[in-house]
Amino acid sequence: MEVHDDNLERFGVESFEHGIALHPISIAEARVIRDRVLSAGGPASRSVYPCDDAPDTLHLGAFVNGQLAAVATLCYEAMSATSNAGQWRLRGMATLEGFRRLGLGKRLAEACMAHAADRSSTLLWCSARVATIPFYRGLGFQEQGQSFQLLEYSDEAYILMRRALP
Ligand SMILES: CC(C)(COP(=O)(O)OP(=O)(O)OC[C@H]1O[C@@H](n2cnc3c(N)ncnc32)[C@H](O)[C@@H]1OP(=O)(O)O)[C@@H](O)C(=O)NCCC(=O)NCCS
Repeated sequence: MEVHDDNLERFGVESFEHGIALHPISIAEARVIRDRVLSAGGPASRSVYPCDDAPDTLHLGAFVNGQLAAVATLCYEAMSATSNAGQWRLRGMATLEGFRRLGLGKRLAEACMAHAADRSSTLLWCSARVATIPFYRGLGFQEQGQSFQLLEYSDEAYILMRRALP
């Protein structure tokens, strides 16, 4: 993992090992960041996902000096009705604007991958905003199919992205 030392110095954080922590968070905490980053003034329903309450769903947060700065949610959900079991969906990836490009999103996604891999996962997938394709490609995801819209969440274009897990 590349550590962006210059960026981290802005927060008085020496390195990922000193000052940055990843740990499970509540749905409410995840929704606070989703509201600010992903919903952008839209209705609160945009920050509510069907899988949020499922017992095997994981909500993870990245904290910088104790402040929640980025979130990710991992749900046990197949990519399509005909998909095999063992597929997990990454949702609600969001990093507060002032904390981007520090490696928080990457760290969260990697932790979600490890969590899924530990549970015999074969595939991790997401509906990615097209603007974030480079972020997901950097994590080993590849696009599948054509872009589409999810107007219940935003006006942006989305595309399915998938990554095989060992
Ligand atoms: C996408 C998002 C979650 C990335 O979070 P982040 O904490 O800034 O990501 P990281 O710092 O871990 O970035 C890891 C790598 O992804 C790439 N990356 C991240 N954001 C990128 C962007 N906007 N465009 C291109 N590449 C990007 C970079 O290669 C980066 O590594 P590098 O800076 O060392 O080259 C964040 O930009 C965000 O919250 N965006 C708005 C909400 C959103 O679109 N979420 C995704 C919904 S599908």
